[in-house]
Amino acid sequence: MSYDAIGDAYDLVYPDTIERVPFVKNLLKRHQKDSVLELGIGTGLFAIPLHEAGIDIEGLEISQVMIDIVGQRAPNLKVHKGDMRDYAINRRYDAILALSSVLVFVANEQEIKQCLRRCYDHLESKGLLLLELPNHKVEILKSNNSQEIHRSEDESTIVVIQSAVEGQDWNETWHVFKQNDGGLSHQKVVCQEFLYSPTTLAGQLQDVGFDIIETRGDLLGNPFDESNSWRRVIVCERKD
Ligand SMILES: C[S@@+](CC[C@H](N)C(=O)[O-])C[C@H]1O[C@@H](n2cnc3c(N)ncnc32)[C@H](O)[C@@H]1O
Repeated sequence: MSYDAIGDAYDLVYPDTIERVPFVKNLLKRHQKDSVLELGIGTGLFAIPLHEAGIDIEGLEISQVMIDIVGQRAPNLKVHKGDMRDYAINRRYDAILALSSVLVFVANEQEIKQCLRRCYDHLESKGLLLLELPNHKVEILKSNNSQEIHRSEDESTIVVIQSAVEGQDWNETWHVFKQNDGGLSHQKVVCQEFLYSPTTLAGQLQDVGFDIIETRGDLLGNPFDESNSWRRVIVCERKD
């Protein structure tokens, strides 16, 4: 799985995630949701602070490298190994989180629907589904064929991410360079985001059994603006 190769370089690219945790925490609190599953928990940038704040959160993750990282950082945080398109956990949650675009790390609309169905099946009645997605329209306009560079303080790890539209996907190609005793290593990983249609997604949510109750422009709580927001945050409620 592609994220195995990114593993320990991941946090270098997302130093600001901690600023987004309060919005998620407050949303769960406001809706009185205590038990939570995070799809694609990654290195636990959201889940670990929520766990430390006393929220009963578990993760689902396809990458063993990511599972091991969370295990080292938060040994009591349970992470289920599995694929969000096809998993069965013998538990229902008050809320499910799909953050940092994870819902669109799939090949097509059918796979998005499969994920939504699994979410429906793992939520309690009136359970909350929080989707944090890209607003591809703005992202493509502002950063198609662009490159960003992230460096660790000692410059022993450098991550170069190149972004471009390719067919039905928004591809982020990660080049991870590491300087260690054995010399310089380079790993290349392509993270593919399916260019979803927001209208189709809204229809799929309805079909599967969700109402959209709130839309925001990011996880800081800013309003959504189709032409300017980089993110599309959708709060959904399981209908029954
Ligand atoms: C962009 S990272 C987000 C990590 C974390 N949610 C965050 O916001 O910091 C996406 C994570 O989803 C995982 N992932 C990708 N496809 C998946 C799938 N089909 N099922 C479960 N996890 C998946 C990756 O391994 C990776 O750890």
